[in-house]
Amino acid sequence: MLTFLVIVKPIPFIFWGATFAMFLFFGCAGDGHGLDENGNPIGADGGGLPVAFEPTFPNIQTKVFSAICIECHVGSQAPHGLRLDPENSYASLVHVRSAEQPALFRVNPGNADESYIIRKLEGGPGITGGQMPLNRPALPQDTVNAIRLWIAHGAPQN
Ligand code: HEC
Repeated sequence: MLTFLVIVKPIPFIFWGATFAMFLFFGCAGDGHGLDENGNPIGADGGGLPVAFEPTFPNIQTKVFSAICIECHVGSQAPHGLRLDPENSYASLVHVRSAEQPALFRVNPGNADESYIIRKLEGGPGITGGQMPLNRPALPQDTVNAIRLWIAHGAPQN
C-alpha cells in the first residue's frame, strides 16, 4: 500500500506542474491586452515600445482617424480614395494597395515596416507626397507606435 502511494502520488503534481509551465510559456503571447503598469505592451512582437493608448483598431479610429485624418480623408473626394471615417476605414486600409506605391499595402497585417501608412506617418524615406497628416503637426511617436503594434498583432478589426 505504501509503495502504491509513493508511486502514484507524485503524478498529479507532475501533471499540474507541466500544465502550469505551459500556461507560463504560452499564456502571455502578445495580443494587445497584456499591458504593464505604464500601459506599455508586454511581449515579444515590438514589445517595449511606448504607446499612447492600447493598440486596438477602435482606439486608433477614435483617437487618430476620426480626430485628425477625416478632415481630408472622407467622402468621394478623399485623396486616393482613402476614406478614414469609421464606416470605411478598415476596408480602405487592410490588404489594400497604396495608390502612391502599389508595391506596398496601406496596412500589411503583421508587418508594420512594410505598411505604407507607417511610412507616411513617420515621413520615412521613399514616400511619395508629404508626411501625414499633411501640413499638420506630425503624430507623436508613441501614437504611431500604437498603430505599429496594432499592425504587428495582425491588424484585427476589434
Ligand atoms: C490636410 C489634408 C490631409 C490630412 C489631415 C491627412 N491627409 Fe493623408 N493625404 C492627403 C493628400 C492630399 C494625400 C495625397 C498626396 C500626398 O500623399 O501628399 C494623402 C495621402 C495619404 C496616404 C497615401 C494613400 C495611398 O494610397 O498611397 C496615406 C496612407 C494617408 N494620406 C494617411 C493619412 C492619415 C493616417 C492621416 C491622419 C493621421 C492623414 N492622411 C491626414 C491629405 C491629408
